[in-house]
Amino acid sequence: MADHSALSFSFLRRLVATSLLAAVVLAPGLAAQQPADTNKAFRDSVAVRLKLIEAGRHVFHGEGTCFACHGPNLEGTAIAPTLRAHKWRNGDGSLAMIMRIVRTGVPNTAMISHPGGINEDELLQVTAYVWAVSRGVAKP
Ligand code: HEC
Repeated sequence: MADHSALSFSFLRRLVATSLLAAVVLAPGLAAQQPADTNKAFRDSVAVRLKLIEAGRHVFHGEGTCFACHGPNLEGTAIAPTLRAHKWRNGDGSLAMIMRIVRTGVPNTAMISHPGGINEDELLQVTAYVWAVSRGVAKP
């Protein structure tokens, strides 16, 4: 009887020790696991995108001079078409298409390559902005 209880005690002790060890070893791993990381990555990516769109808004209404032809609310003018949701003249309205137009311009029209002499960073920013407004996910 005494032997038996000694055995179960040592078994119990081992079990507790093992669980404690498991808890200590696994806990940091669990804490750093997917959900927390994914949430942070998601929040970061949203913040980056919002910054990109915000920067593009400045390019559109400033250095890029886009507003002068496309209108301050991207509504279009007598000179140039709207950049809000519409049947695009030069493609499907995708991010890639908008970027291509701003990069190369449309031959024989007032739409020149790199309007306002914008650089590659500004080109990316203004593309993100136009795309976001045309999709209704950002205000002009
Ligand atoms: C001097 C006037 C002018 C300026 C400045 C200008 N655009 Fe344009 N843009 C045009 C015209 C005109 C067109 C239409 C070309 C055509 O007939 O296909 C056009 C077309 C576009 C298109 C394609 C629209 C479609 O339906 O296919 C995009 C995108 C665009 N412009 C973006 C911009 C951006 C972004 C800027 C600023 C960086 C800018 N434009 C500056 C005159 C201008």
